[in-house]
Amino acid sequence: MTSPIRTERHDNVLVIVSDNPPVNALGQAVRQGLADGIDEALGDDSIEAVVIRCDGRTFFAGADITEFGKAPQGPSLPEALDRLEASDKPVVAAIHGTALGGGCEVALACHYRVAVPSAKIGLPEVKLGLIPGAAGTQRLPRLVGAEAALPLVAIGDPISARKAETIGLVDAIVGEDSLEADAIAFAKSKIGQPVPRASEGTANQDGVKNPDIFDQFRAKNGRRMRGFDAPNAAIEAVKAAGELSYADGVRKERELFTQLMTGSQSKAMRHYFFAERAANKIDDVPADTPLIPIHKVGVIGAGTMGGGIAMNFLSAGLPVTILEMQQDALDRGTGVMRKNYENTAKRGRMTPEQVEGAMGLLTPTLDYGDLADCDLVIEAVYENMDVKKQVFGKLDEVVKQGAILASNTSYLNIDEIAQATKRPGYVLGLHFFSPANVMKLLEIVRGAETRDDVLATCMKLAKKIGKVAAVSGVCPGFIGNRMLSKRQEQANKLIMEGANYWDVDDVLLEFGFPMGPFQMGDLAGIDIGWHRDPSKVTTVREALCAAGRFGQKNGKGFYDYDEARQRTPSDEVKQIIADFAAKEGNQQREISKEEIRERLLYPMVNEGAQILEEGMAQRASDIDVVWINGYGWPLYTGGPMFWAEQIGLETVVSGLEKHGLPVSDRLRKNATGGAGFD
Ligand code: 3HC
Repeated sequence: MTSPIRTERHDNVLVIVSDNPPVNALGQAVRQGLADGIDEALGDDSIEAVVIRCDGRTFFAGADITEFGKAPQGPSLPEALDRLEASDKPVVAAIHGTALGGGCEVALACHYRVAVPSAKIGLPEVKLGLIPGAAGTQRLPRLVGAEAALPLVAIGDPISARKAETIGLVDAIVGEDSLEADAIAFAKSKIGQPVPRASEGTANQDGVKNPDIFDQFRAKNGRRMRGFDAPNAAIEAVKAAGELSYADGVRKERELFTQLMTGSQSKAMRHYFFAERAANKIDDVPADTPLIPIHKVGVIGAGTMGGGIAMNFLSAGLPVTILEMQQDALDRGTGVMRKNYENTAKRGRMTPEQVEGAMGLLTPTLDYGDLADCDLVIEAVYENMDVKKQVFGKLDEVVKQGAILASNTSYLNIDEIAQATKRPGYVLGLHFFSPANVMKLLEIVRGAETRDDVLATCMKLAKKIGKVAAVSGVCPGFIGNRMLSKRQEQANKLIMEGANYWDVDDVLLEFGFPMGPFQMGDLAGIDIGWHRDPSKVTTVREALCAAGRFGQKNGKGFYDYDEARQRTPSDEVKQIIADFAAKEGNQQREISKEEIRERLLYPMVNEGAQILEEGMAQRASDIDVVWINGYGWPLYTGGPMFWAEQIGLETVVSGLEKHGLPVSDRLRKNATGGAGFD
């Protein structure tokens, strides 16, 4: 087998080049090649400096994740990197694309780092439930300081080359198109000077002088780290970099890394990494399906949903024409979009020029004719089949042939909508989640006649606008809402049978969801759709509305809210529920949190199995992708289907039976097969 690593001589500089598509992951052959390349440089007196660079789209994007969990094959990355750093000939990392994880650690072990302006550098291991495992937690703080290292190691978002230069992680920014030549020149300029080694740096002393930075960091990021093991281990490792010798710090890192690697969270998060990428592929649509060029997008409806949808495209640099029926609604909608952008700018995540750039791409209109030359039109009007059919009929008349017509419906039948047009092959569902400019999930609903190129184009477009896409077949509620309805059904039944509604919410919070169904109801407003007739009370929600409890907006819904929007369970509400239950003839009893948990979550798994059986989802992991990105299912459990496999499908089946709940044939079959869902 030929090595993915080759060496090239440029005068007295040896350039070690990795060519391991697609992302130059640091598999065994790459590690071996790197170690051999360094040996070659050290063993040759005519070589006085070394450059390490990669072919293809990126510098090393990290350890090879497919090797995790298998027997390790030497040389290990830490061994290869120690050899590299020990060199007394200067070694320069020449970075383009993304230097991530182990790739960033290669760069840290080099004596110098140069990068092109478009490069990104980071340690995203926490996103896989890990911490860096090749001394990244020890070299980085010694090079840039603990304070600068903390977000990189414990949050895991990559930073730009320029930002890396400002914190001292990159030594020089070089020409976008002259990386190799500039890196060689840089390396030559360092010949004869003592080599700086990150492992010998002292910048980490900032954390010793001011140990408060660690608690401050925890406090600032507490919400996003909630429930995850890896970020705390990352903070501990960075702290150790200041307190321990380098060798002891590396030992500490290894100990924490091994604990995480063998734990359940990392297993789940690695499952998710591959699940997200698998969801992007449609089994029966060839990868090379020609795409429909999308240069201009139309959005119908400038309400919360339509505006949010439009912002996705504007932010990605695509012109959008947005249509409303009335001028005041149009003005209100575009005003909200501008405000959202300005708020983002206030938080420093956009420049004022970028705000103007995005808004400059927006064309508001009241005239359907202005949508004629759009390549994709997304309808986001209210959920009513007759209205949707009218809109699609009209779109079919005015929008050019070959353009895609999409509905943002969250549960209506896409095939029926498609029949309102003469181009059903060009119709599909693009179901965004609110707030549409923030939520990552895009459910792509494939109609019976949706063409392959229409699907493939929308999958690609989803990635362009930063969404995680998953394909669903046509069924009421598609994947996400169909499963949600099973959970909601149980939540409502549970409180009728006597469960405390706050226990129902707390069970989900404790499981790792950001909030429970009753908190969610309060947030959205429980008076949505209320008929405003207190004499007609047929549901608990209506009973609450009749008692003037509308949700967070008037300080009382299921909960009472204080000024800081902190919730307190309400005795009044508990009584309203009990009265309502009595009226319905329900006996109330005490219900344990365990029962609540099983009854909320197991029926979702059962419905997921049914969705698989009907072919509405391509694979179980797609369902995980939907729930993690659209509904706050905790990432560290891997999603409902992976979680169910981990606790055992037979446990789920017996739990459902215990509570007298239905068990689908598919779930029963997979539980007996013992091999999981796929
Ligand atoms: N190992 C193995 N395969 C990898 C990989 C890795 N580190 N990174 C990406 N791949 C694979 C993907 O699974 C995908 O395979 P597929 O085509 O068969 O689906 C292919 O490479 C292309 O990946 P993407 O579709 O994600 O390509 P993008 O261009 O969208 O993104 C990327 C490129 C930004 C590099 C992204 O792939 C990424 O974020 N990769 C993971 C980076 C990472 O987490 N690195 C840390 C690894 S852990 C580590 O290094 C431990 C160390 O400290 C010891």
